[in-house]
Amino acid sequence: MQIRFALALIAVLAGGMVVAQEVGTRTDLSAEDLARVRAVTAPATDFAKAEQFETNPAGKGTTRFSVNQDSFSHFLDNLSFEQEEQFKLGNALFRKIWVSSPSSTQASDGLGPLFNARGCQSCHIKDGRGHPPFEGQAENVSMFLRLSVPPSEPDTRLAMDGVIAGEVGDPVYGTQLQDFAVPGLKAEGRMVIDYTDLPVTLGDGTVVTLREPHYSVADLAYGPLADDVMMSPRIANPMIGLGLVEQIPDEDIMVHADPDDKDGDGISGRPNWTIVPETKAVALGRFGWKAGMATIRSQSAAAFAGDIGISTPLVNLPHGDCTENQPECLKMPTGEQARLGLSEAPDPVLDLVTFYAQTLGVPERRDVEDQAVLAGKAAFYAAGCASCHVPKFVTSRNAENHAHRFQLIWPYSDFLLHDMGEGLADHRSEGQASGVEWRTPPLWGIGLTEEVSGHSFFLHDGRARNLTEAILWHGGEAQKARDVFAAMSEDERANLLDFLGSL
Ligand code: HEC
Ligand code: HEC
Repeated sequence: MQIRFALALIAVLAGGMVVAQEVGTRTDLSAEDLARVRAVTAPATDFAKAEQFETNPAGKGTTRFSVNQDSFSHFLDNLSFEQEEQFKLGNALFRKIWVSSPSSTQASDGLGPLFNARGCQSCHIKDGRGHPPFEGQAENVSMFLRLSVPPSEPDTRLAMDGVIAGEVGDPVYGTQLQDFAVPGLKAEGRMVIDYTDLPVTLGDGTVVTLREPHYSVADLAYGPLADDVMMSPRIANPMIGLGLVEQIPDEDIMVHADPDDKDGDGISGRPNWTIVPETKAVALGRFGWKAGMATIRSQSAAAFAGDIGISTPLVNLPHGDCTENQPECLKMPTGEQARLGLSEAPDPVLDLVTFYAQTLGVPERRDVEDQAVLAGKAAFYAAGCASCHVPKFVTSRNAENHAHRFQLIWPYSDFLLHDMGEGLADHRSEGQASGVEWRTPPLWGIGLTEEVSGHSFFLHDGRARNLTEAILWHGGEAQKARDVFAAMSEDERANLLDFLGSL
């Protein structure tokens, strides 16, 4: 990590081309406001008491309700009455269960033909995270395998200013393994996970047994996968605070990027520049486990098409992820209806779902003045966790929605890519993200996972069964921080976990 506010010139390597993305100092603020923002987002130095506003991870949008299963499902506290109504319409669509065509409830059909789930909520359960199949659970519900093959020459993907968007899917199975299909069609196959035990001894002699996952695919219904196929397992991310993340100025994210590790702290942080499908403009990826998507709208449209098999005006693929090598799939009926518009989900469905995803709030912090939590926060900084899990940002003054505008937020992420070592590697690139890189995930709300989701599975594939395991999997650029954690006394570890639990 490197803090610098002057013009940053970042080299982007894409498809053999090197392009400079120029990012200066944010332009939405007066010099006076910029100084205020820098002061308020400076790292904490006093761990004897909580910082001002620390209880409000989403600024004025922070939600204040008793902690329960619904903690992630509240709208930002500073929405207008009209926006609350829009949120509720979006919520209904996010919960909607799509059915296959043709059906009697025509406004809900179009599912598949291949799909991973019937609705957004099936994966983003209670607006929280997904999980690998529980013990004894046969079906996989909130997790999938992304598939791709190395691009052939010439590369036909969308390219702009040297940035290349998207991946080349498996020639038969496409970009994702769908483990469900509508009646009359075969599902593509089944993701199989085998775990082996990996015991780790901590500094004080405590032994923690990690589970190391091994992925394969069974019951392939459309022939073999490509020889050079790359697979990446992903659980659904929690949905809170996303609209605020979208409004962090690029400049304030790029301040933390240090691709060549010029400051020599062992932590680089690289941006994943990508292309926004609507505008064809190069933009900073910030969503998904490899920051492959720049906007909530494009991520949502991709989810409609790839995960549920529903076309929207943005990704108008009524057959979802069916490829030309799956002719039986392309023959299935779609849910397009001329009287409703050209897509299975015509406007304003995508707009409303996007608005919903942009306006889910973040619950207030608990126990910020607790002595153990404060000690844990100090340990978090001392171990170097805050180098990647950057605590604070101030959102843009130019945000379109007043609820997102100029808020001090506490996501605990730099939204950049880091080499996390072989242990976590999926060996599959995504945009500029390599097979060993992952985006730092935000930690806000992580202490409520058990309450909201009824489990505590973490990391991109849910392999960690609790926070301790999640930290012990950190390698690569995070190896040093991981080792500091592993060397802590039991009390120090407990404090750090108390701090994470208060987020
Ligand atoms: C089959 C499971 C599944 C379904 C259904 C699903 N998602 Fe997701 N969602 C995921 C996964 C997995 C990711 C992470 C993707 C990645 O890393 O590339 C994700 C990521 C996201 C993100 C980015 C979150 C972040 O923190 O970066 C958004 C926004 C999102 N989904 C919206 C939606 C919407 C809207 C729907 C319904 C149209 C939907 N999803 C349906 C599994 C699902
Ligand atoms: C070099 C950057 C870096 C450092 C340093 C770092 N992390 Fe992380 N952290 C990440 C990345 C990247 C992931 C996602 C890895 C994955 O899913 O495979 C992650 C994931 C996590 C998760 C799981 C989040 C989730 O949503 O599943 C927790 C908890 C966490 N880190 C805590 C910590 C703590 C505590 C420390 C300090 C001991 C730390 N991290 C240091 C980059 C970092």
